[in-house]
Amino acid sequence: MTLSQRDRRILWHPFTQEKTASAVIPIKSAKGSYLYDEQDKAYLDLISSWWVNLHGHAHPEIATAIYKQANQLEHVIFSGFTHALAVELCEELQKILPDPLSRFFFSDNGSTAVEVALKMSYQYWVNKEKKERTLFLSFEGGYHGDTFGAMSVGCTSGFHSVFSDLFFKVLTLPYPATWEDDKHVALKEEKALIALDEMLKNHGKQVAAIILEPLVQGASGRTGSGVWDLSDF
Ligand SMILES: Cc1ncc(COP(=O)(O)O)c(C=O)c1O
Repeated sequence: MTLSQRDRRILWHPFTQEKTASAVIPIKSAKGSYLYDEQDKAYLDLISSWWVNLHGHAHPEIATAIYKQANQLEHVIFSGFTHALAVELCEELQKILPDPLSRFFFSDNGSTAVEVALKMSYQYWVNKEKKERTLFLSFEGGYHGDTFGAMSVGCTSGFHSVFSDLFFKVLTLPYPATWEDDKHVALKEEKALIALDEMLKNHGKQVAAIILEPLVQGASGRTGSGVWDLSDF
């Protein structure tokens, strides 16, 4: 039996319909931008493991650093303990963050980081005795991950819809989807800002936090929005 067939019998893959998906490609090794299968056929890894492998595969400096560190201290429970490298990393990151962002909390992936951020903002208002601040504002088409809080604030994927009865309530704002040389961008932004103002006027006192994808609504791949259509222009 091939490795792909053994895989199919025992493994589930993310974002994959296991019955209809084509066979997975077994990868034996990787170097730089390339993955190599068992016959040494090279694949250019344009997706970089969903964007996280920015420095390339099997980078010698990273591999050596991981090896050295694992020989000294691979992990310590962060509740009640710390270590120099964690503090140094935060000190370096702090230098490039805008004020007033100055504190760090380590999480283990994007979705969990989003959960932590939602919980922190919610608890902030509980601590301030403003328990009415329970609503999150998010933008249409935003993607924030696949845990329940992250799905609630960014339910864009068909994979999420089956869970929608379990999501908490979120106020969703239109996003001024645009593209290069878009003649209507100023008007779209104005409309999005008017919608934001309106939302804050009506629900501002109940809002715990606003969540938005940095830079672009990249993962959503959406261009449309309910607030305008081209006949508006
Ligand atoms: C903007 C954004 N937020 C959150 C996530 C979730 O990250 P993770 O897949 O590490 O849980 C992603 C993942 O693609 C993302 O693009």
